[in-house]
Amino acid sequence: MSKISLTANASLITQAVDALRRGALVAFPTETVYGLGGDARNLEAIQRIYALKGRPLDHPVIVHLAPDADLNDWVSELPPAALALADAFWPGPLTLVLPRAPGVLDAITGGQDTVALRKPAHPLAQALLSAFGGGLAGPSANRYGRISPTSAAHVREEFGAQAPLILDGGDCTVGLESTIVGWLDGQLVQLRPGQLSLSELSRVAGPIVTSVATQKPRVSGSHESHYAPRTSTSLLNFDEILAITTGKFAVLSLSTAPITHKAALWLQAPDDAMRYGQQLYATLRQLDACGCERILVERVPEGDDWAAIRDRLTRAAAR
Ligand code: TXA
Ligand code: MG
Repeated sequence: MSKISLTANASLITQAVDALRRGALVAFPTETVYGLGGDARNLEAIQRIYALKGRPLDHPVIVHLAPDADLNDWVSELPPAALALADAFWPGPLTLVLPRAPGVLDAITGGQDTVALRKPAHPLAQALLSAFGGGLAGPSANRYGRISPTSAAHVREEFGAQAPLILDGGDCTVGLESTIVGWLDGQLVQLRPGQLSLSELSRVAGPIVTSVATQKPRVSGSHESHYAPRTSTSLLNFDEILAITTGKFAVLSLSTAPITHKAALWLQAPDDAMRYGQQLYATLRQLDACGCERILVERVPEGDDWAAIRDRLTRAAAR
């Protein structure tokens, strides 16, 4: 991240802020994945985001804020447990879903009475947000249901000639979307796992439940199939992968390729959850591009630190 010069990007940031003020979109790096940003107070800008992504209109988006932004512009209530999370993990890969302030557009919240907020840690995102001075509505900068982008090249790949101005902040260091925690019916609920694990969050904020019995909020990333390659993808044990000998298939494994394997492409992923997560989406794109009929992914370990990866792999394989 130190390689990114904010001075070198100064004129691009000016250009980006001009675009945002006009209601145009800007793709920007965060530490998790690249976002497709538009002025969160401008209905037309938000509609442009939905149109470019091809995302259903009732799916809410996250509002990104500068490190010193005042949350009271966005929320009507800041429960102590949520404030503790914000103090401990912002700026960082955490999104908080809180009761929304009057005036927050329905287009942002999908008509729900909550709003999702995040203060990202990436220096270029922070420079953009500070220069813009407002909130940036920003879903991941990919077509709906597809793999989130973790580099500027991925954003170009997603949108081609329709791509907006892209701020290039290098490869994302986290590589998986933020952990989402909501304040719902008087308790903290994890709505999407991320690199920040449940135990890290609970240490700061007390108990956090992982499912709600009543009225599940709409979280588009919670659809069964999401973050998905175009190629049919299966999650298997190592032995099951080795038993497959026909067809043209690619493998993502935690082990080196045995000499007897029959895969057209065999990629070995890191056995450390942080590095696995950082590389996962770039690796899935590479596997998707290899012209195979199937992608076989070896199941990853149990345990809290692998929870977000298990979640994304399960959705990538659901179809
Ligand atoms: O790391 C991230 O979170 C990235 C970067 C760009 O910040 N953003 C991201 O945005 O992943 P998106 O739109 O792809 O996913 C945001 C998720 C969606 O599943 C959405 O449904 C959920 O946040 N969400 C947004 N507002 C919500 C709300 N009010 N209640 C419940 N879920 C909400
Ligand atoms: Mg997304």
